[in-house]
Amino acid sequence: MNAGLIGIGHFVPEKVVTNHDLEKIVDTSDEWIRTRTGIEERRIAADDMDTSDMAYRAAANALEDAGVSGEELDLILVATVTPDQPFPSVACRLQERFGAKKAAAMDISAACSGFMYGLATAQQFINSGVYQNVLVIGVEKLSKITNWEDRNTCVLFGDGAGAAVVGPVEDGKGILSFELGSDGSGGDHLYQDEYIVMNGREVFKFAVRQMGESAVSVVEKIGLNKEDVDYLIPHQANIRIMEAARERLGIEEEKMSKSVHKYGNTSAASIPIALSEDVKSGKIKENDLVVLVGFGGGLTWGAVALRW
Ligand code: UT7
Repeated sequence: MNAGLIGIGHFVPEKVVTNHDLEKIVDTSDEWIRTRTGIEERRIAADDMDTSDMAYRAAANALEDAGVSGEELDLILVATVTPDQPFPSVACRLQERFGAKKAAAMDISAACSGFMYGLATAQQFINSGVYQNVLVIGVEKLSKITNWEDRNTCVLFGDGAGAAVVGPVEDGKGILSFELGSDGSGGDHLYQDEYIVMNGREVFKFAVRQMGESAVSVVEKIGLNKEDVDYLIPHQANIRIMEAARERLGIEEEKMSKSVHKYGNTSAASIPIALSEDVKSGKIKENDLVVLVGFGGGLTWGAVALRW
């Protein structure tokens, strides 16, 4: 069976923190943040809203969209580097909240590429006929591992969640190809000590190269050309990195998803939030060839080509 996204949803916290708000806590400026990253504001979750609470809301949305109940779920995969606690997993917390009695559940740690790893994993279980309904979520509460005194990082990140129900779809639709990769030798460029630590320039160089290569690779794997791509959803980390990926694919500006200005970098949540918003607003249409591509700590990367 082909695997496709049969329902999607997202959730972002209410609280907006603008660049001007950050000017009051670190030595930065709205101008610097906008020109270097494209970010204007980000959402920050309240103290009493943990990662699993945001994941629950996004997933409830996706389940409703798919018309699938918790009891029908076979597997729950949660991509996050900010779980409520190391264990139990966020996935197990959701298993209980959705009454998903027959579901297996686990978290995936692949940083910003996590949702790609989740989709590719779900696809294997569905292609093989082992499972019917897999819930895949990308969620982060990065605000709790952000050093609010470090201007190099605190201006970049935000909180949020995006979710998809992956299930069998007709031939030619759904996930057509994927590429996943890792390079542990770059692990020291982006990691969590107590807080997020990052060598921005190194990550930038890696991201520009890898996003372009992976996006082209998933299209070539299905025997199509760059010109066939209808819509690109790059990981929403930095508008300059996103633009480099777009140029590599050679597609027009309006064919690239853009929400980094309003949500900042939400790591594993950025691609599913963008997908959910863009499908709901009509930017992605039936039969569109959509390329999702992400990169992140690990280092890791991942891309998926899908026919919507
Ligand atoms: O999901 C994956 C996570 N990570 C990423 O995607 C990050 C990838 N990297 C980037 O997006 C960019 O490298 C940054 C946005 C982090 C930085 O942009 P850049 O153009 O690479 O700047 P830079 O690192 O070359 O720094 C330029 C200057 C430095 O000052 P000096 O050393 O040249 O005097 C920084 O100290 O900008 C300074 N700076 C700031 N100034 C004002 C760094 N952060 C800030 C800030 N406000 N918030």
